[in-house]
Amino acid sequence: MRTKYFYIHTFGCQMNVHDSEQLAEMLKARGYQKADSVETSDLVIINTCCVREKAEQKAFSMMGRLRRLKRDNPGLILCVVGCMAQQRGRDILKRVPYLDIVVGTHNLHHLPRMISEVEGGRKGVTEIGFHESIASMDVISLPGDNGVTAFVSIMQGCDNFCAYCIVPYVRGREMSRESSDIIREIETLAAHGVKEVTLLGQNVNSFGKNLSGGQHFPALLERIGEIPGIERIRFTTSHPKDLSDHLIRCFTTIGTLCEHIHLPVQSGSDAILRRMKRGYRAGDYLERVERLREACPGISITSDIIVGFPGESDGEFQKTIDLMGKVRFDNTFSFVYSDRPGTAAEGYDRKVERQVQIERLTVLQSLQAGHTEEKNRKMHGTAAEILIEGFSKNERTDLMGRTRTNTIVNVRGNRDLIGNLEMVKITETYMHSVRGELLAKKEALTC
Ligand code: 5AD
Ligand code: SF4
Repeated sequence: MRTKYFYIHTFGCQMNVHDSEQLAEMLKARGYQKADSVETSDLVIINTCCVREKAEQKAFSMMGRLRRLKRDNPGLILCVVGCMAQQRGRDILKRVPYLDIVVGTHNLHHLPRMISEVEGGRKGVTEIGFHESIASMDVISLPGDNGVTAFVSIMQGCDNFCAYCIVPYVRGREMSRESSDIIREIETLAAHGVKEVTLLGQNVNSFGKNLSGGQHFPALLERIGEIPGIERIRFTTSHPKDLSDHLIRCFTTIGTLCEHIHLPVQSGSDAILRRMKRGYRAGDYLERVERLREACPGISITSDIIVGFPGESDGEFQKTIDLMGKVRFDNTFSFVYSDRPGTAAEGYDRKVERQVQIERLTVLQSLQAGHTEEKNRKMHGTAAEILIEGFSKNERTDLMGRTRTNTIVNVRGNRDLIGNLEMVKITETYMHSVRGELLAKKEALTC
């Protein structure tokens, strides 16, 4: 039988990237191979995001581009999976009738069966039910060649219902995996050469809430810190209201835990934070940042910020700018607010004009660019440890690694170094990355 090829296009967050890796694993187990492009595929999967309106528009425009391909090759199977599939269900088929499969976030493991059903002649196969557990979370996606880093899902869903956010509606209630399953998965990854794991969840700080035996996130980190072969641990995303002192202490007690935390603040105005239903004030956030920096002075702190939330005045926006001045984030991801169906904020009045939102975003992003550049500039001439992950995107003759604080470093070096922890001296700094030179082991020791 002829080998069949699949292609997955992923929109959205690291969680989606990891879901796509797990889908790829399930398809490979059934004899499919990865294709280089949609044109050479028998099966195209679009893994969607609906956290912001823009991500949805992009997914629809990709579906539009696939129409001609489907017309020329009716045997091609087109699937839409993930958050937008969950939210819109069969309605997507009204707008894109040539889709074969629509699968929501809790049913990804059913995709192989659904493909067989389409091959058997069914059309528009849809599954969007929510379940008590998510079977695909337990699929281990082993790294390919040179794979030294891996994502590990530790929980899914969210119970926070921030006023602007669609995640609880499309990913469902918060659900943690058993610590023992997570540990087993990481041990397997380590046995396959993985050196760094990034633990994923919408709100990792509340890991364990639905589990028995008092399991919690710091305890999980401590266990992972003991796994031989795992040299670096990262995690994302943290909610400021659940960032405990115990977790902050982990940055000093677990040697393999990298000094970086992604801690979305969303706004610097108490009034806006209240309307967002975030459960903390700007002062609480600043206090957590202070504690983090006391415990771990070099820690890198990144954040998410929304501008133009309903009712945000110039003065309230200025409070966000002021908070950024106080924290001086290493980096931020910033977004203009967009209404999401079914969320509380959709029903709020005093929506901010698009033009004003864009102006605020521009101000915020240029301030952040200055902060990030300055942080990177300060690295000039210093030594840092990097984990070499593979070849650089820009120049195939260069290698790419990351510092423990998550800065991308490009270095000249040969492929044998991939997977190694190496010391480098930073020689050039830019906005999104820096350049370094490998230090001989002896030099590194004296740094
Ligand atoms: N509009 C704009 N940004 C949003 N985010 C989530 N929902 C919305 C929305 N409706 C942003 C938040 C979140 C990040 C993943 O996306 O900043 O932290
Ligand atoms: Fe959305 Fe808030 Fe949950 Fe994050 S914590 S996923 S912003 S509801």
